[in-house]
Amino acid sequence: MRHWWEDAVFYQIYPRSFADSNEDGIGDLQGIRNKLGYLVDLGVDVLWISPFFKSPMKDFGYDVSDYRDVDPMFGTLDDLRTLLSDAKTRGIRIVLDLVANHSSDEHPWFFEARSSKDSPKHDWYLWVPETGRPPNNWTAIFELGSAWHPNLATGERYLGTFTKYQPEFNWRNDELREAFYDIMRFWYALGVDGFRLDVATGYFKDSELRSNPFSSKANPDFFQKHIYDRNRPEVHEVFKEMRAVADAAGERVLIGETHGQDRLLAASCYGKHDDELHLAFNFEFLYEKWGARNFRESAERWYAALPDGAWPNFTLSNHDHPRHAWRYRGRRFGGASSEAETEARARVAAAMLLTLRGTPFIYYGEEIGMTCYPFPRAALRDPLGIATWPLRGLGRDPERTPMQWTGGENAGFSTAKPWLPINRDYRSRNVATQETDPASLLSWYKSLIALRRAKAALHEGSITFLDLDVDVLAYTRRAASCESILVLINFASQPRAISQGAPGRVVLRTARAGGTALKAEGIVLKPYEVVIAEV
Ligand code: GLC
Ligand code: CA
Repeated sequence: MRHWWEDAVFYQIYPRSFADSNEDGIGDLQGIRNKLGYLVDLGVDVLWISPFFKSPMKDFGYDVSDYRDVDPMFGTLDDLRTLLSDAKTRGIRIVLDLVANHSSDEHPWFFEARSSKDSPKHDWYLWVPETGRPPNNWTAIFELGSAWHPNLATGERYLGTFTKYQPEFNWRNDELREAFYDIMRFWYALGVDGFRLDVATGYFKDSELRSNPFSSKANPDFFQKHIYDRNRPEVHEVFKEMRAVADAAGERVLIGETHGQDRLLAASCYGKHDDELHLAFNFEFLYEKWGARNFRESAERWYAALPDGAWPNFTLSNHDHPRHAWRYRGRRFGGASSEAETEARARVAAAMLLTLRGTPFIYYGEEIGMTCYPFPRAALRDPLGIATWPLRGLGRDPERTPMQWTGGENAGFSTAKPWLPINRDYRSRNVATQETDPASLLSWYKSLIALRRAKAALHEGSITFLDLDVDVLAYTRRAASCESILVLINFASQPRAISQGAPGRVVLRTARAGGTALKAEGIVLKPYEVVIAEV
């Protein structure tokens, strides 16, 4: 049986930065609601909204102090109800972000837990006796220090592998588990369509608290192989339990953030018998250098890693990584030499994301080609960015700048000073200008999404890669119910002559004058040209 999330296009919203309705410089739920028309036009099916729950905002919402309520900064529970029902009317589903690896240190559970060893909540978190030194080398990655933080009241240390403000849960405790399953039921009952599970592979730590071995990789490993502080096998038990709760609520999706860039780990989270998560992120594309062969090999590795029947997914950008338009400009990921080349690459990347076999995840703003820019120290807000300053590319503020709606004041995001500076290119790069331009990147995204929806071959079909040219990513998508689709994507800044051997009808291509037929003898693809044809 096919599930709705397999045919859907997801769109991630970082709520602080999407749209501000009450002019305080911070995006909110009502702001998202005001933009539903835009999202319908774009053609996306599902919104994954990053956390908007009550939070002291030490990690901007990824530190939750009440899992069942909306932070006043974002609105109220009623605002969420209205958003859910309006979205539903317009055919859009909503997925929440569940931060179940850790809470905020201001969650009432943690207040209770840290007050005394005898507190009934004490065992909900992870503790070691204070001996003057941490028990192992696990690090708080946003503080670049030990992950074991002192707690004077009990003479112990608690675990927090992000910041000391994010104490981690003991998922071996049954009451804790039940508390989370109840939270999930609460949101299902309110009508949410599923969860993205934050740090899903982090719930369990080594029971012997062994030190992680050294890794030579700084990013994303922070010089440690994370085999003991996360990625423990016990997590599969919890995924099965969460799956049972989701199944009982009807067709609700569970999407795992599988930490690091390990496709085998991600693949394992689907479960051997389709009994764990429905989707798990494989983050390889976020680290892939520009090039047709790189992406093809990465996609093939991912398909091969997945258990039978598991449905793939792809993502190019999210709130934790430099935006891809920016990456493909920089030297490390492939060095585009001009603004025009960056733009051309954004089109190529979009065509790939939206025609591969697997659910695509779009990060807000990528549809207008939003990029990053180096922040001045004074503007940094992200704890990781502050801890790693002046190193570039680790701090996450640059990919979280406000959505660029117009070329007007504050890019139309807010009339108040936005919580993060707007990218300086907003006067030329914004929704308003691109909306009226049929040749814009935004129009390209809309065409691709519409085509993906219209053609079963694209949303559900099989995929066969073709060996035509090393610089051309080429594949055929096939489904029983419609014509096959041939996708030709030239990753090179030079033309490439392709002989593909079958005549066809071009259904979508990057702008070029004339010609809707694909000749049997082939085609000369222009630099960065994309041609999608029925064959
Ligand atoms: C996940 C989130 C990230 C957050 C971290 C700690 O990796 O994507 O934004 O900072 O978890 O919750
Ligand atoms: Ca606001």
